[in-house]
Parts: sequence; structure tokens; C-alpha cells
Amino acid sequence: MILVQDQLMDQSELHIGMEDRGYQFGDGIYEVIRIYKGHFFGIEEHLTRLERSAKELQMSLPYSIDLLKQRLIELAEVNSIHDGQVYLQITRGVAERTHHFPDNQKSMLVGYTKEAPRPLQKLRNGISVITTEDIRWLRCDIKSLNLLGNVLSKQKAKDAGCDEAILIREGTVTEGSSSNVFIVKDGVVKTHPANNFILNGITRNVLLHLAHEAGVEVVENTFDQSELMNADEVFISSTTMEITPVVSINDKTVSNGLPGAITQLLQAKFEQQIE
Ligand code: PDD
Repeated sequence: MILVQDQLMDQSELHIGMEDRGYQFGDGIYEVIRIYKGHFFGIEEHLTRLERSAKELQMSLPYSIDLLKQRLIELAEVNSIHDGQVYLQITRGVAERTHHFPDNQKSMLVGYTKEAPRPLQKLRNGISVITTEDIRWLRCDIKSLNLLGNVLSKQKAKDAGCDEAILIREGTVTEGSSSNVFIVKDGVVKTHPANNFILNGITRNVLLHLAHEAGVEVVENTFDQSELMNADEVFISSTTMEITPVVSINDKTVSNGLPGAITQLLQAKFEQQIE
């Protein structure tokens, strides 16, 4: 079953209009929310961010966040999702094609679930990444469907046999193509501040909180490519990748090429949250 507006229905009943603005302009927003052992992780935070994304794009949600939360829980339940995720998107809906907003906006919501195991091997062994120029727009804080800059960067990583692309804007490391980026130097964790150049990740906020609790110093400051390349530890965070160590950047190993101690400490703290 899938969720269409506020109804659960069979996928075969879904009809997307040819002039849906999500389809034509990428005019919409989305969230990916993790389900662990049948329970949503951070659903409130994801829905709060969804509301914010809508507001920033002057888009109305089709119905209340409370009802949406209820429907998502029902959706995961009818599909018996154990370890998986829900993908949820809302577009500005169908209207005759003009760039400006239509007079009567009727936003369109679709959500679906899938089983997805945790990426255990990558969590344990780490991943290799490349760096590439951040060619995206200046409102990366909005979780919008417009993802071509992210798509092209991720493809570049894949072509290089890597799992993620770390994006660099005018010398500054912003984030990954679908993750936030952290470095550790001399015991201090550093990550780009939550402004218009990055998506303020839900996992990012969980881990900043966990670091604080564990007495690990964190600074939300910008850092450049040479700091990245000379870091003691590097890791990324996202809903699907959790806290994943980065062990190689542009074919150069990070420190000794093994996941670092602070990364592993934060991973262990995160594990406790999802148990
Ligand atoms: N991506 N930055 C970008 C550009 C992202 O696309 C994501 C998540 C994050 C991490 O955010 P969070 O911790 O809230 O998942 C940061 C999702 C998972 C995706 O597009 O599949």
C-alpha cells in the first residue's frame, strides 16, 4: 500500500498528472525517514523540517502534520515494515505550465515504504569518497526535489568507484551529495554551520547532541579542503547512512585508513538510540 494525499491505497490506483509541478519543475519537497524494528526514528524532527521546507517555498501542506504522522504510522504498519524507510514527497500539484505559482495551489502528497537493511558493512569498514565542486543553488537548507547538483555529484563518485562526493564551495567543505560531513582534529569535531549552504540533517543534530553528552567538543565552523585532507578522522551522517566513517578521500587514506576512535564512539552512542 502507498499513501496518496490522506488515503492509503494500492499503488495501481496512483495517477500523477502530466502537469504536476514536481514532475515539470522539481517544484516540491521531500523527506526520508528511517524505521528501526517497526518504529520511526526522529519522525517529529523530519515532519518539522518538512513544514519548514514548505514554508520557505510558500507551499501549503495538503493537511495537518498530526494527521500526516498518523497516516505514516499506519502506512508502515500495513506494509509490516521492520527495518526500512518511508519516502514522502509533496509537490505544488497540477496546474497549467507557467513558471510562477498557480493561482489555486493543490499540493500533492505521495508516500511509500520499503524494507532496507542497515548498511552494516560500510558502518564497520568505512567508505571511500571523492571531492567535487558544489554546483548547487543557494538554498540547500530546503529539502527540495531539485536534486540535479546532488545527482551529478553522486554519479561522479560512483564513476570513481566511491560511495559519496564531498562538496566544496569556494574552497569550503559544505556537505556530501546526500549527507553531512564531519572532521575530527586533535579530539575536536568540526562541521559546517547549519545555514543556507547545507541541509540541516536530522542525523547531524542527533549526533551533535550525542557528542555533547559524551563530552566530545564540537564546533560548527567552516573548514577547507586541506583541513579535510589532513583530518585525524572524517565521517558522514544521514538517515540512510547513519554515522559512516570515511577512510579514503580522492584515493588518499584518512590517517591510517581505519575508522577513528571518536567516530566509533559516536556510532556506539547512536546504536543505543535505535535499539
Ligand atoms: N539525504 N545533506 C543532504 C544534501 C542530504 O540529501 C541529506 C539526506 C543529508 C542528511 O540529512 P538527514 O540526516 O536528515 O537524513 C544532508 C536523504 C537521506 C536522501 O536524499 O536520500
